[in-house]
Amino acid sequence: MLQDGTVHVHEPDATPTRTRLIVDVDTGIDDALALLYLVASPDAEIAAALCTAGNVPVDQVTVNTLSWLEVCGRPDIEVAAGSQLPLVAPLMTTEDTHGPQGVGYAELPPPSRSRSARSAAEAWVELTREQPGELTGLVTGPLTNLALALRIDPDLPLRLHRLVIMGGCFHHPGNTTPTSEWNVAVDPEAAKVVFDAFSIVPPERRPIVCPLDVTESIEMYPEHVSRIAEIVGLAPSGELSPDAPRGTRSTAEAPLVRHITDALRFYMEFHRDQGIGFLAHVHDPFAAAVALGAVPYTTRPATVDVELDGRLTRGTTVADRSGMWKRAPNADIVAGTRPAEFFDHFVERVGSYIRDLNLPPSKN
Ligand code: BDR
Ligand code: CA
Repeated sequence: MLQDGTVHVHEPDATPTRTRLIVDVDTGIDDALALLYLVASPDAEIAAALCTAGNVPVDQVTVNTLSWLEVCGRPDIEVAAGSQLPLVAPLMTTEDTHGPQGVGYAELPPPSRSRSARSAAEAWVELTREQPGELTGLVTGPLTNLALALRIDPDLPLRLHRLVIMGGCFHHPGNTTPTSEWNVAVDPEAAKVVFDAFSIVPPERRPIVCPLDVTESIEMYPEHVSRIAEIVGLAPSGELSPDAPRGTRSTAEAPLVRHITDALRFYMEFHRDQGIGFLAHVHDPFAAAVALGAVPYTTRPATVDVELDGRLTRGTTVADRSGMWKRAPNADIVAGTRPAEFFDHFVERVGSYIRDLNLPPSKN
């Protein structure tokens, strides 16, 4: 069962097919960018946005997701809330990274509608029963909701077209402990439940895992936001310059440009405080683009498990690439991409969506 060295190359689909998604988020600055990107994608259809406690508590995640989808022009998308807590661990949140409300300095209007009557776990189960084999799951937060859904229905993996996860790190330092990535570290038990449960799917449907090893190469700079603003038709503002005072707010006329500028300023200041530079790792939009098959990437198969007991290593994802555990691969781990191509695609898609959203009705 030697798997080492097997690299699969995925190029963007020349004729993209429509991808229908269940998106599970802990919104979160980069989750918000992922949702905007999907809303802006003609080849994506979001069946539901499910909310998990993570970057901020689940009630705040749910409010953020409701508000954000409304600002993005999609108040029709179902938003369901998940568990207040991880399966076993006490909840940790990271307002330092994502701001007091989870969206940096952005001030979103309160949502004008309510969350779904069903829970996130129920939505996972019911949607995959209604549309077996049709839906791609995209999880950009902790895996709590999906793990709870698997408790209700262990056959769920067989009804999902594909699962794409932003999570884990393998040959790369962690961002939460020296060896663990945030989404897994928040709820390690849930991550283990998911990796174990998806061992039953055939190789062509193995979960695609986007780890920090690759997502930290997805570095968003102020220049990318300027390019979006330019496509929208706004004059250069310099509001996101690293030299502008900390906390400088955008005055852009287009609400979405204003909100992403304010959210990203907070995220970039956080990265600068960490010694990384005035940039932001936008992990979740990259995972969204992988889910659509819209960016180039390579994968390597592996058997993935999660350390639950280590005194220093709890929450660490471990990949067996050589069959040492004598267990079949249960994941395709993304090993590389071309970040500049991702950003060209992302900037164009998001910029033209915001431009068209802002056109007066007569020009639409
Ligand atoms: C992940 O952690 C969160 O803070 C981000 O939203 C992303 O999903 C990166 O480790
Ligand atoms: Ca996230």
